[in-house]
Amino acid sequence: MRCELLFPLFLLACVINGLPVVGAPPVLSMHFKLLRRHHRQRSPLQRVREIVRNDHARAKMISDRIGWQRSACVAGGSVPRTSSFAMPISSAAFTGTGQYFVRLKVGTPAQTFLLVADTGSDLTWMKCRYRACRGCGDAQWRRAFRADQSSSFSPIPCSSQLCKNSLPFSLAKCLAPTSPCEYDYGYTDGSTARGIFADEVATVALSGGQSAKLKGIVVGCTSSSAGSSFRSLDGVLGLGYSNTSFAARAASRFGGKFSYCLVDHLSPRNASDYLVFGKDTIHRPSKPDRRRYAELILNSWLEPFYAVRVGGVSVGAELLNISEAVWDSGAGGGVILDSGTSLAMLAEPAYRAVLAALSAPLARYPKVEAKPFEFCFKWDQSFDEAAVPRLVVHLVGPRGAAAPLRPPVKSYLIDVADGVKCIGILSASWPGVSTIGNILQQNHLWEFDIANRRVSFEPSSCSRSLH
Ligand SMILES: *[C@@H]1O[C@H](CO)[C@@H](O)[C@H](O)[C@H]1NC(C)=O
Ligand SMILES: *[C@@H]1O[C@H](CO)[C@@H](O)[C@H](O)[C@H]1NC(C)=O
Ligand SMILES: *[C@@H]1O[C@H](CO)[C@@H](O)[C@H](O)[C@H]1NC(C)=O
Repeated sequence: MRCELLFPLFLLACVINGLPVVGAPPVLSMHFKLLRRHHRQRSPLQRVREIVRNDHARAKMISDRIGWQRSACVAGGSVPRTSSFAMPISSAAFTGTGQYFVRLKVGTPAQTFLLVADTGSDLTWMKCRYRACRGCGDAQWRRAFRADQSSSFSPIPCSSQLCKNSLPFSLAKCLAPTSPCEYDYGYTDGSTARGIFADEVATVALSGGQSAKLKGIVVGCTSSSAGSSFRSLDGVLGLGYSNTSFAARAASRFGGKFSYCLVDHLSPRNASDYLVFGKDTIHRPSKPDRRRYAELILNSWLEPFYAVRVGGVSVGAELLNISEAVWDSGAGGGVILDSGTSLAMLAEPAYRAVLAALSAPLARYPKVEAKPFEFCFKWDQSFDEAAVPRLVVHLVGPRGAAAPLRPPVKSYLIDVADGVKCIGILSASWPGVSTIGNILQQNHLWEFDIANRRVSFEPSSCSRSLH
């Protein structure tokens, strides 16, 4: 009940900022090339450790945010959504090592950026230079958005309802009514991103080959960021469930949905696929009956995360004995799909059960220590992947339909060194949410049908090139 006091403000934002598309005939979809950032210099284990560090920090951000929103709903609606609430929940490490990237063209004339495609984020931001803020723009940045050179860049005033009530992590600070709305992100690894919100235009490639301008996109012009996380990134594309996110704005114009296919997370840089908004004309399902539909649980306290209904997990033919509360977002658990987390993170009771079931048949291989993973082993030519029991996450579709997600073995037995594999699943605290990260999502085509509150998926090699 109380939540209703907090959240109607989003409706307002939605009405104020429509999403007209100019300069093009009506089209069904647009697409971005999904690119994989590749880090050559590091050993696989170093890379995986970096990923684990990020995932843990991110898990903290997720649980802080959900926890805060849950308690805000319970404690009372008088809590306004202002910057003071933003600060304690914006504590995630974010270095980009285990992420997927897209190219986004922003501004007029358009400037191009490499952004992390993040379903767990409601803000889109870029490193940015803007005259109105003192000492803005790190001289070290190879690439930054030149806000002054964009005729469509329009700072959002701090006195606006959008700033005061809807924009994530906005600050209460407001020196003059027309001063820009500011944000301040703090990440658990000490990284920060600060800047101002602006209304901008993104240029997108339509399926017909033309380009179109998407107006009314909220972007963060990040004027200062600190910490190692952002060395290799230009910023983040917010695909989260929120009325002000890029996904919401774009989906509201393009069929209420978006889809992506994640190439193998170890693919070379040039292997790519697409993130599509609207009717997907690029990813034609080869066999329609392979597609599964799961229910999306979209509610205010889980925002901006996409939660799915899960009925259980099996390993081999065995359905594991895991308390139902672990899968229930109303009972302290729940499962989210998060493209910004790399490894799967299961709440402790589920993690224990899965680890035990998966490791039992692998006990005959020599064990190896490779922290932070609990179970790693040496393998050689005799290793038979087909003999590894298959992990199945039993998602639940509308009207209780079965929607089993069967990730390939490589998505949970990951290579950390030559001849060494680990069960690449992390333990998440309980009570708390479990996360299906991007590695468990790889080699599948996913469609987030927000309008119909469902997500569909099917196996795919995810390696398409348009030209
Ligand atoms: C977003 O707006 C829609 C209507 O446009 C509304 O139904 C929904 O509750 C809003 N979501 C949030 C999280 O405020
Ligand atoms: C990527 O580049 C490698 C060599 O640099 C080449 O062998 C491979 O075919 C390329 N893959 C794609 C998808 O273009
Ligand atoms: C499942 O686990 C619960 C709690 O640990 C236990 O009480 C129950 O007997 C178990 N059920 C089966 C079928 O093993």
